Amino acid sequence: MPVSQPGDIPSPYRLPDEIRRLKRERGAVLLAHYYQDSEIQELADELGDSLQLSQAAARTEAPVIVFAGVHFMAEVAKILNPDRLVVLPDLEAGCSLADSCPADAFRAWRARYPGHVAVSYINCSAEVKALSDVVCTSSNAETIVQNLPPGRGILFGPDRHLGAWVARRTGRDLVLWDGACVVHEQFSEREVVKLKVRHPEAELVAHPECGAGLLAHADFVGSTTALLRRVQESPARTFIVATEEGILHQMRKAAPGKTLLAAPGSEGCACNVCPHMKRNTLEKLYLCLRDLSPRIELPEPVRLGAHAALERMFELGRAQVHAA
Ligand code: 13P
Ligand code: SF4
Repeated sequence: MPVSQPGDIPSPYRLPDEIRRLKRERGAVLLAHYYQDSEIQELADELGDSLQLSQAAARTEAPVIVFAGVHFMAEVAKILNPDRLVVLPDLEAGCSLADSCPADAFRAWRARYPGHVAVSYINCSAEVKALSDVVCTSSNAETIVQNLPPGRGILFGPDRHLGAWVARRTGRDLVLWDGACVVHEQFSEREVVKLKVRHPEAELVAHPECGAGLLAHADFVGSTTALLRRVQESPARTFIVATEEGILHQMRKAAPGKTLLAAPGSEGCACNVCPHMKRNTLEKLYLCLRDLSPRIELPEPVRLGAHAALERMFELGRAQVHAA
């Protein structure tokens, strides 16, 4: 029996078809991050991690970009496509990392380190990108830092865990902004070790936003896409997955026979669910396609500054690693 909805929102059973219809009518492309609910992932034209989605945003010719992700991701799509309409199902879909790094505080921090290169994780506002020399994602942070001129001081923000991981991997000294992801920081090293003891055959795969204590036990560390590939390609049959639970949907599809155990937080909290990513729902996706709202708008000077730092990311991410 169809469930009736308030107003003129179609019933949940009809929503996927209505969203497909609106996408066609609007000529819209739907870009979705792996941390979205599985029903949103199933409707996406392009599904990926932050780097893949920014590349998809740079490529698209669609007049309307619907971004099923968080605010900074939709901003990246707008920075790269000033003449296209970019909509986000819920404007309040933020990110604890971006929130930890207000532009004024970042500007003052930068000013304390003259001559340093400022590398900003893509999980920050357009204003902070505009104040940075280069942006990175978890897929290319290591390559980008390796490609910076040797001997040059480096500021890295806003994720101190990703920054510390990159410093360990590259041997470079990074001055770190004190931010963290509310999801990845919550995984409990103690509980994860208990799970590893119970499943000695399991591989622990972890996102570099996790703390150093947990990463020290990981068999593989990488971006969301790298973790997905690892689960597909590794000969192991069981995995403990230390990242947001949305990725499990694609992991199950890509590696159907394998056992996936979500990494636990302390005292059984549901901390592997990003509350910001999950603000987007099918209803809000439908409404945003129907009303072409809420839209992402940016002041042009901010957009231009952020664009330069993103272009530098595409350039340095492609370049050969600097021979130090
Ligand atoms: P990815 O770069 O792996 O997509 O990570 C983005 C993110 O927000 C992780 O929490
Ligand atoms: Fe931000 Fe963490 Fe959510 Fe990723 S998982 S969007 S870093 S709060």
